[in-house]
Order: sequence, then structure tokens, then C-alpha cells
Amino acid sequence: MPDLIRWAILGAGRIARKFAADLAAVPGARLVAVGSRSGERARALAAELGAPRAYDSYAGLAADPEADVVYVATRNHAHREACELALATGKGVLCEKPFALDAMEAAAVIGRARARRCFLMEAMWTRFIPAVRQWRQWIDSGRLGEARLLQVDFGFRAEPDPRSRLFDPTLGGGALLDVGVYAVSLASWLFGPPTRIESTACIGETGVDESVGILLDHPGGRLSLLSASIRLDTAKTAVVYGAEGAAWLSCPWWKARAARLEPRTGHPVQIDHPFPGNGYQFEIQEVHRCLAQGQTESPVMPLAESLEIMKTLDAVRRRWSS
Ligand SMILES: NC(=O)c1ccc[n+]([C@@H]2O[C@H](COP(=O)([O-])OP(=O)(O)OC[C@H]3O[C@@H](n4cnc5c(N)ncnc54)[C@H](OP(=O)(O)O)[C@@H]3O)[C@@H](O)[C@H]2O)c1
Repeated sequence: MPDLIRWAILGAGRIARKFAADLAAVPGARLVAVGSRSGERARALAAELGAPRAYDSYAGLAADPEADVVYVATRNHAHREACELALATGKGVLCEKPFALDAMEAAAVIGRARARRCFLMEAMWTRFIPAVRQWRQWIDSGRLGEARLLQVDFGFRAEPDPRSRLFDPTLGGGALLDVGVYAVSLASWLFGPPTRIESTACIGETGVDESVGILLDHPGGRLSLLSASIRLDTAKTAVVYGAEGAAWLSCPWWKARAARLEPRTGHPVQIDHPFPGNGYQFEIQEVHRCLAQGQTESPVMPLAESLEIMKTLDAVRRRWSS
């Protein structure tokens, strides 16, 4: 691995700060710049995080002479523009979820990255969490027999606020894009793209989907039952069933610190994988590994799959928006 990967953070909001805290703990990572639409916010964040440079525009940050990779931490509707600015100057990009607002945007960004031969990855950090990898390994090794049914929920309670990114349709709000994407991504990772998609949603007063239910058919008679909400605190579980048992992730499953195997016969097994911080360090390590090996995408979160996931999200929305 190179001794040092130099990061820049684009967008000075909540997730930028949480990500930066984990970045600081990854060996070989250095934060060299932050950028915001506001110079004041950029300087405040740079001072808070000890970043040497602060830019008052996303274009300025993208042109930083030192950064190897830009972490795109803007609200959903601004992901595309931010990614394209960074890719245009030859930077690698780690882009927050959802990767884009729709599949058309996703395809455009992927096209830019490929044309520039730049690294690009959707920040689907759950895939890199050690307990989640353990869970996947049990499934792949046939410990459940053939995995047939995935049940996942991701719901939390927020108060409706038309100014919040969660409830503003123009900012890419709604349960599906905010948290449903995690469930759809997990289903895609385990079972591949769906062959049939059913969905229904509760649309709130601001016009966004506040709760959504999704049923996916996958090849080989496999099913995913998914739900997401920004109005309801749900159980936050993920479990996959096969004829020979079940495998659970500890709650909340998207940052699980343990995985549990319950075989039909024999004793349950629980494996604990505690970690410090928020859990973003594992995706950061994957970016470092890819850059060190000259890979322009991650085999764990490949671009073709990010595009497929956006297509699934588009199809889900078509079920209730027409
Ligand atoms: N991985 C995770 O666990 C996780 C958790 C939460 C959120 N997220 C994702 O991270 C992204 C940011 O979420 P957040 O909670 O950090 O959001 P936030 O604090 O509300 O906003 C993030 C930043 O977006 C920028 N932005 C760009 N255009 C904007 C506009 N027109 N209006 C307002 N802000 C605008 C702002 O940066 P400047 O004003 O500095 O330019 C703002 O600080 C979202 O895509 C979300 O889905 C991921």
C-alpha cells in the first residue's frame, strides 16, 4: 500500500464530521482539504478537523493539487455534480449513498469515471463491516442450506419537517433513498438483481415516501422482503433463512457488531466483531486497498451493481408514483 492516501471532504454537514472521525483513525489516511458552498463553513470544518486547506466552492476543492480521493458528503441531489467535479480533475471518489437520484444519473457518473480511468465507489459501508462479512461467509459456505428468504427492515423516527433533507422531495428525500437503499443493496449483494419487483409506500404531506414495503423475486426462487421508514422506529433486523437454518445480524444490522447462526440442528453460534468509531473505517480501508492496487472500482461494491441498485430503486418508485 502507498504510505499515505490524501483525502478531501466535499460538503460540510453531519456525515462529513462522522466520516472524518473514522478517517483520522485509519493508518495511512490524511485529510488534506475540505470544501463547502460557504467559505465560513469550510473554514470552520477545517479548523475542527485540522485540515490544512478549506475551499469555498466544490470546484475549488475538486482542483486541490494534493488530494488523491474525494469523499462526497453532500445531500442526495448534489451527489452527481460533486462526483463529476472531482472526476474531472482526475481524483478518485467515494460517494455517499444513495449513489445518485436515479439510474440515469448513476450511469452518467460511472461513464465519467470510466472515461477518466478514475476510482469510484458508492459508500455502501455496511458491506465492509466485519460481522456482515462473517454473516455473508456463513451464507456462501452453505451453512443454512440454500439461502432462500431475506427479511430486512431499516426504520427510524424523524419528525416531519419540510426543510429537512429527509422530507424535501427536491433534495432526494424519502425513506427509499435514505434507508431503503441499504436494504435493497443487501438483497442485491446476497441474491443478485431482482426479476420481479412489488412495492407500496405511504406518501407524507411533503410528498416523500415516509414508509415503504418492497418484495423482490430473485432467480432460483429466492425472495427479499424489505421495509424502510423515516417515521417509525422499527426492529432494525436482517435475517436470511435457508432450509437448514437462519443467520442473523445483530441490531442495528447495517453496523452489526455480531452475527448469529441458528442451524436447524445443533447449537447456535454467535461471533462478536466489536469495533471502535462509527464503522466507516472499513470502507475507507477498502478505498486504500483499491488505490494501492491501481483498481478503479471495488470488487465488493462494483459500479455495475451500484447502477443495478439504482435501477431497482427506480422500479420500486414506479410502483407507487404513477
Ligand atoms: N453513511 C451513512 O451512515 C450516512 C448517514 C447519514 C447520511 N448519509 C448520506 O450522506 C449525505 C449527507 O447527509 P447529511 O446528513 O450529512 O446531510 P446534511 O448535513 O443535511 O447536508 C450535507 C451537506 O450537503 C451540502 N449541500 C449541497 N447542496 C445543498 C443544498 N442545496 N441544500 C443544503 N445542503 C446542501 C451542504 O454542504 P455545504 O453547505 O457545506 O456545501 C450540507 O452541509 C446524504 O447523501 C445521506 O444519504 C450517510
